[in-house]
Amino acid sequence: MERLKELTLISGSAHPQLARDIAIHLDKHLADAATDVFPDGECNIKVNEDIRGRDVFVIQPTCPPVNNNWVELLLLLDTLRRSSAGRITAVMPYFGYARKDRKDEGRVPISAKVVANTLVGAGADRVVTLDMHAPQIQGFFDVPVDHLYARPVLMQGVQNLGIQSPVVVTPDVGGTKMARAYAKRLHADLAIVDKRRMSGSETIVEHVIGEVAGRNCVLVDDMISTAGSITQAAAILRQTGAKSVVIAVTHAVLCGPAIERLAAAPVDRILATDSVPQDRANLPSNMEICSVAPLIAQAIRNIHLSESVSSLFE
Ligand code: R5P
Repeated sequence: MERLKELTLISGSAHPQLARDIAIHLDKHLADAATDVFPDGECNIKVNEDIRGRDVFVIQPTCPPVNNNWVELLLLLDTLRRSSAGRITAVMPYFGYARKDRKDEGRVPISAKVVANTLVGAGADRVVTLDMHAPQIQGFFDVPVDHLYARPVLMQGVQNLGIQSPVVVTPDVGGTKMARAYAKRLHADLAIVDKRRMSGSETIVEHVIGEVAGRNCVLVDDMISTAGSITQAAAILRQTGAKSVVIAVTHAVLCGPAIERLAAAPVDRILATDSVPQDRANLPSNMEICSVAPLIAQAIRNIHLSESVSSLFE
């Protein structure tokens, strides 16, 4: 294969700050690309520099507005393919539609598969993503997928708090694998909140499995959407006698009542990454954003140089 020319970064409009931070860590500038919207709502894209033969990384989380960001990413990929880029990598710090990864009832789509099909169909040769809600979505792609973990970034944030003998807690059974990985590295015990989802916006919690009374709990999850799950989990931990509760979450999607719920939640600290853009002035005062820009920049560098990406997992 012809050697790929220069590493090139392009940002969509979803999260330009993260793209700028990644570029700083790679000592690169962002390619000159204009992404705006026609009066009727259609995306208008133009790449203003020659990217022929280059190793191009398009940075675009498909966070809300999910459909706009997804379509804009597809159009960017198509633009790059038609501009003869050498290799095109979609860098998706947050992968939207990942909760729909199987047909769990009749007459529903497998939305994550549609996302995968369209990304590759539009021109993605490779995908980089972070803590996908369902990591098995990698199998929906027939191109390489580098699935990064925010764990090293968030663990550093947790360790900075100097928590004594923590218990790592997952707010639902589905998060047990992720919580166990944190517990192993923090040399902590593990507990599970028994959550049942009644609808997209309603959940109920009834029990905690494991010892949390008198303990410092670290609640870990891949995402906060409406914050129902995590705040209910925090509340039951307190009711069960937890001494302190810290939340560590990868994707702070924060929709609907999320910010109000988090502000009112009985938690000491909330750590989240910048995989999704935040209006920091609106966040609860005890919420801290830990940047994944260095992690993603390192992954991009390693991919460009054909070096190991799994070395970044620890
Ligand atoms: C569930 O499986 C996920 O890990 C999150 O706990 C959930 O999607 C968060 O949603 P919400 O914040 O709306 O409760």
